[in-house]
Amino acid sequence: MSIKGAKARIFITAALIAGVSYFHYSTELSAQDSHIFYQGLYFLPVLLAGFWFGLWGALAASVSITLIYLPFTLTHWGVSSAGDFTNVQVMVLYNLVAVILGILSDRERRKQLLLRDAESLAAIGEAASYLAQDMKTHLAAVGEHGRSVKGQLKADDPLGIKLNMIIQETQWLEKLVLEILAFSRPLKLSLSKQGIQPIINDSLEFARDYAAQKNVTLQARFPQDLPPFSFDRIRIKQVIVNLLLNAIHASSYDDSVRVSAARRGRQFIIEVSDHGEGIPPEKRKEVFLPFYSTKEGATGLGLSVVRKIVNDHGGSVRILDNDEKGVIFRVALPFESK
Ligand SMILES: Nc1ncnc2c1ncn2[C@@H]1O[C@H](COP(=O)(O)OP(=O)(O)O)[C@@H](O)[C@H]1O
Ligand SMILES: [Mg+2]
Repeated sequence: MSIKGAKARIFITAALIAGVSYFHYSTELSAQDSHIFYQGLYFLPVLLAGFWFGLWGALAASVSITLIYLPFTLTHWGVSSAGDFTNVQVMVLYNLVAVILGILSDRERRKQLLLRDAESLAAIGEAASYLAQDMKTHLAAVGEHGRSVKGQLKADDPLGIKLNMIIQETQWLEKLVLEILAFSRPLKLSLSKQGIQPIINDSLEFARDYAAQKNVTLQARFPQDLPPFSFDRIRIKQVIVNLLLNAIHASSYDDSVRVSAARRGRQFIIEVSDHGEGIPPEKRKEVFLPFYSTKEGATGLGLSVVRKIVNDHGGSVRILDNDEKGVIFRVALPFESK
């Protein structure tokens, strides 16, 4: 609502209250029917203020009406005794209606705001996804041409270093674009009932080189008789790989990182634990936000993708303290034994 609009609405409400009050005070007391009609008219500004300004607006209107109308009732108290209590009741009613209507209208407004936020987020997501889709093709072309030119250069050509930088930067952008795509596109899960062991092994294989650079030992721990359950293998691998890469990144030289899996009742639990620097409790929500990162040159999209995939499976992710040091990322997926 613009300031001008708000002023106009305040003016209309005040004018209505003033107008009805004027009628009350200028009409003879014996014209009871007219007074009853004016009492009804007082509801109008209360309702309007409630719709326009919520609880406080409605209360401002009903309290003003009470303050203006009270002297009228008191000065004529006892003149037509039957009406006195009705007048008081009606004033209580103005304020009651104001409170109820105000609360309802505030609640409705909050709902609308949430909806608008969600809609604009969805629109931004869609725009990002179009943009990323377009960039992906162009970046792939730049990278491809860069590699092909590099292949034609002599090994000692000084341009080789610059070309390498172009290729590396393009790769980084490609990775960013892929992560934005994974994050902004609605996921179409392709679910099938299968065992988790091969996926964990694939993920460990994927992270092995990175772990070797820091001499980090990768361990897997799961019972051999894990029952199969329904999940999207590519997406869940993406989840485990993202968690593993983060865990290795947080680890010191010679540390170990562990992946474990177990069925717990109606849930399937996958945990990735490390002995790294840990995540302070107050940061444990923030790390899941897109683009939140404490690493140089990182995208900060990894954990937001993890959470999206897990949520789309109907599961949840939590961060727990590891025994001595570091954190455990616990992924709980629904296990349906059908
Ligand atoms: N296992 C972990 N130990 C400590 N900090 C972590 C761990 N995993 C994630 N984080 C923190 O969360 C941030 C966000 O992670 P992520 O979304 O994967 O983005 P990125 O890895 O690109 O920074 C990281 O930058 C890091 O600060
Ligand atoms: Mg990451």
